[in-house]
Amino acid sequence: MAFSFVSILLGSSLILQASASPLATSSRCCNLLDTEFKGAQKVVYPQTSEFGVLNTYFAPTSQQTPSCIFTPSNATDISRAIKLFTRRSCKFAVRSGGHHYNAGWASINDGILLSLSNLNDVIYDPISSPDSVFVGSGNRWRKVYETVEPHGFTVVGGQNADVGVGGFLVNGGISYVADQYGWAVDNVREFEIVVADGSILRANKKDNKDLFRALKGGSSNFGVVTGFTLDTIKSSVITTTFVGYPETSYDAFINAAYEYCWKGEDPKSQILFISFLNFKNGTFSLQTAASIIYADALQISSPPKVWAPFVNGSIPFLGTQVKAQGGTLGSHGRELAGVQRSGGVLPDRRFRSSQMLSF
Ligand SMILES: Cc1cc2nc3c(=O)[nH]c(=O)nc-3n(C[C@H](O)[C@H](O)[C@H](O)COP(=O)(O)OP(=O)(O)OC[C@H]3O[C@@H](n4cnc5c(N)ncnc54)[C@H](O)[C@@H]3O)c2cc1C
Ligand SMILES: *[C@@H]1O[C@H](CO)[C@@H](O)[C@H](O)[C@H]1NC(C)=O
Ligand SMILES: *[C@@H]1O[C@H](CO)[C@@H](O)[C@H](O)[C@H]1NC(C)=O
Ligand SMILES: *[C@@H]1O[C@H](CO)[C@@H](O)[C@H](O)[C@H]1NC(C)=O
Repeated sequence: MAFSFVSILLGSSLILQASASPLATSSRCCNLLDTEFKGAQKVVYPQTSEFGVLNTYFAPTSQQTPSCIFTPSNATDISRAIKLFTRRSCKFAVRSGGHHYNAGWASINDGILLSLSNLNDVIYDPISSPDSVFVGSGNRWRKVYETVEPHGFTVVGGQNADVGVGGFLVNGGISYVADQYGWAVDNVREFEIVVADGSILRANKKDNKDLFRALKGGSSNFGVVTGFTLDTIKSSVITTTFVGYPETSYDAFINAAYEYCWKGEDPKSQILFISFLNFKNGTFSLQTAASIIYADALQISSPPKVWAPFVNGSIPFLGTQVKAQGGTLGSHGRELAGVQRSGGVLPDRRFRSSQMLSF
């Protein structure tokens, strides 16, 4: 009696496992995908070096273990794959630059990772249409800046040049020129997107305008965006500076940050307020810093009014003087990418996850 009771339990749990095992389903989906794209080498499996490269994220905690990675070349490839995924109920995640912090957004366990990295065209004609640029959704901002800035234009893009174009735009996107040009996604003229039935659509102010609207912050909920046509803007000099403050300045710094956010009315100014724990000689100290940007040329000796307390010494800072430098959104983006990649100002790598807010 007892024996058969156990065996019934055991039996039913085995059946449940067999029918609900996500690994079996997703490996089958990988096989189907491999067959669909036979000979094209678009499906990458674990334990290969390419898999390791494609499955690397800015935040190691967002990395998961997909059953395979699909590397389409264009919207047509994606359309074919989406039709298959829909028909067979295959689980998948969409990944562009891999800079999102949350596991399970652009990463997946036991499913297919759709990597957009080959959709990396940046098409710009500075003679016939300098005011727009087509950007494949697998790009990083770096390449977009490098393509348009030599012609005197730039784009409302990432502060950090290594951030992916795809995730940044479908999730809104806060640039250094946000107070002048709005969210980055407000500067998208047209989306090229593959929707759930596999259709490749263009969404703009006239065509598929509901979808156009929904994509302004719609994240990955409405389809896989394969490309964006962006408005370009005139590239002007931006001035940047970075100031660190000792623990004794903490209260004054927070109060000034509050005043700035509440009353600061200079659309060209943007400050990233940073606070982090500094671990040195066995003890923690609370440090703060400000990454300060002005979307114009300026002399640091006569700073804009809203900056004054952060740079004129009324809040004591670390070091002896504040130095500012001129650049473009692209040059600053590349510099910030280098700083954020290495852990930058944060002296102990264990405390890299500082809290950043920008206004
Ligand atoms: C160092 C660093 C600096 C940052 N700086 C800024 C900043 O200045 N301003 C700002 O606003 N944000 C910033 N972020 C946040 C960043 O913009 C978001 O995490 C953004 O989602 C990253 O884009 P990605 O393509 O790299 O992301 P991924 O991690 O590849 O994707 C993020 C999300 O978007 C979805 N997605 C990506 N591409 C597509 C697509 N083509 N179609 C449909 N869905 C898609 C993914 O499925 C996922 O849900 C920063 C992040 C980091 C790590
Ligand atoms: C898309 O890429 C595939 C290769 O994966 C190629 O055969 C096909 O011609 C391309 N389609 C378009 C429209 O460029
Ligand atoms: C480190 O801490 C020890 C003990 O608290 C102290 O004696 C020493 O002076 C400190 N060193 C530095 C460089 O601050
Ligand atoms: C710094 O700027 C603040 C705010 O404008 C002002 O109140 C203060 O007097 C200035 N201090 C110095 C040393 O210039």
